[in-house]
Amino acid sequence: MWIPKLDPLKKPLYQALADALSEAIERQELVPGTRLPTHRALAHALKLTVGTVTRAYAEAERRGLISAQVGRGTYVLDTQTSFQHLSQTPSPLDFSLSLPIPNPQSALWLQQSLLKLSQQGVQNLLEYQNEQGLLAHRQQISHSLQAWGLPIQAERLLICQGGQHAIALALQSVAHAGDVICSSALTYPGMIAAARQLGLKHQGLAFDQQGLIPQAFERQCQHQRPRALYLIPNQDNPTCTCLPLERREAIVQIAREYQVWLLEDDVQLNPSEQRLPSLLELAPERTLHISSFSKLVAGGLRVGMLQVPESLLPHARANLKAQCWMVSPLAPALICQGLADASLLPLIEQQRQEIQARQVLVQNYLGRWQVRAQPWGFNVWLPLPEPWRASQFVDSCRRAGLEVKSAEPFAVGSYPAPQSIRFCISAPAQREQVEQGLEILVHLLEQGCLPHVQTL
Ligand SMILES: Cc1ncc(COP(=O)(O)O)c(C=O)c1O
Repeated sequence: MWIPKLDPLKKPLYQALADALSEAIERQELVPGTRLPTHRALAHALKLTVGTVTRAYAEAERRGLISAQVGRGTYVLDTQTSFQHLSQTPSPLDFSLSLPIPNPQSALWLQQSLLKLSQQGVQNLLEYQNEQGLLAHRQQISHSLQAWGLPIQAERLLICQGGQHAIALALQSVAHAGDVICSSALTYPGMIAAARQLGLKHQGLAFDQQGLIPQAFERQCQHQRPRALYLIPNQDNPTCTCLPLERREAIVQIAREYQVWLLEDDVQLNPSEQRLPSLLELAPERTLHISSFSKLVAGGLRVGMLQVPESLLPHARANLKAQCWMVSPLAPALICQGLADASLLPLIEQQRQEIQARQVLVQNYLGRWQVRAQPWGFNVWLPLPEPWRASQFVDSCRRAGLEVKSAEPFAVGSYPAPQSIRFCISAPAQREQVEQGLEILVHLLEQGCLPHVQTL
């Protein structure tokens, strides 16, 4: 069995083990096709935790050195080809997408959950179901979300293919082609796309450092009453504001006066101690609540939820049925099993703690600038100092190997996007990569915008 000698000075340990693997492959001590020891056996031999070995193997896999094959083991790859592949595609620091933190433990959780699920009765997963999703799944999800402070009710919940599907279904359930709907003038591009696809007239409303301005919503209602207002009250995407309680209450009052539906996007699912009262709590009769396990667990499982007011339930059910009859119960079964046996909770907690630590780094590096973020948020909003243009800043970042987004893709209609960027601190696997990206941002901000003359 291959048992490396780890460099005692190298930290963290999983990195030391991944480096030892890489060096053994380079020395041809490990040749292509060699089967590596199991995680447990190597952990035992090196007196490490199984988690450390799992993380080291995942890191080596990311570097293209080894490949894990479910049920067969982990094998050394032919590095000639994999190194070539790596060198042909230099991987930039990608801070552009709002993804959960890559965690090798999640893949392990999925493997074990699939195994556990397969050992139970799976007959009902083969059958056509109620279009809202299996009642047992809805009950488990509402039970868990209630424990996180959200008044979710199984009877009015529809299981969707992720938050994006829930947004499209919510819009479709309250508006028809030609109807007016509104949101902040900068909002989540998936909502802009869904509204456009449904042929809705999308009005962007004014916002400030605290989020949507209630008076702007009222003016819109007086001028041309919208069918619905879409909001991301807890961690706005992209501007990272958390809407204060007074504004939530004012918006609810206006929505009641003008009979407007409220679409509350809560896909980040903040921990309960960080939560202000949701629109769902303040106006249950008119709020459609959108949530998802994509940010908490994994986007690939596509498990999202839409809770609708009682009066909209038949319509929402009919819409979902017309789209796809029902969402496959397989992925919800995995999520629900992970909630019921609590195997998902340490993964969720680990991510929350890591995000919090990364947000502290953001403040340490960028506190001098007007950066905005929520302590549990994946995203950071950075209004650029004069005379930076966002497009130039994004290009400069790209040249330095860092991908970030300007405000442009978030702009509704022809709204002039501000000179700001949004970057996401959860997409990189390692905290050190977050620091590297932050160093690039600090460097560019300190250096300032270099003058350049465009050809006229
Ligand atoms: C605000 C917001 N809503 C909805 C979604 C879509 O969620 P899902 O990936 O579950 O479809 C995202 C994804 O980034 C988001 O940021």
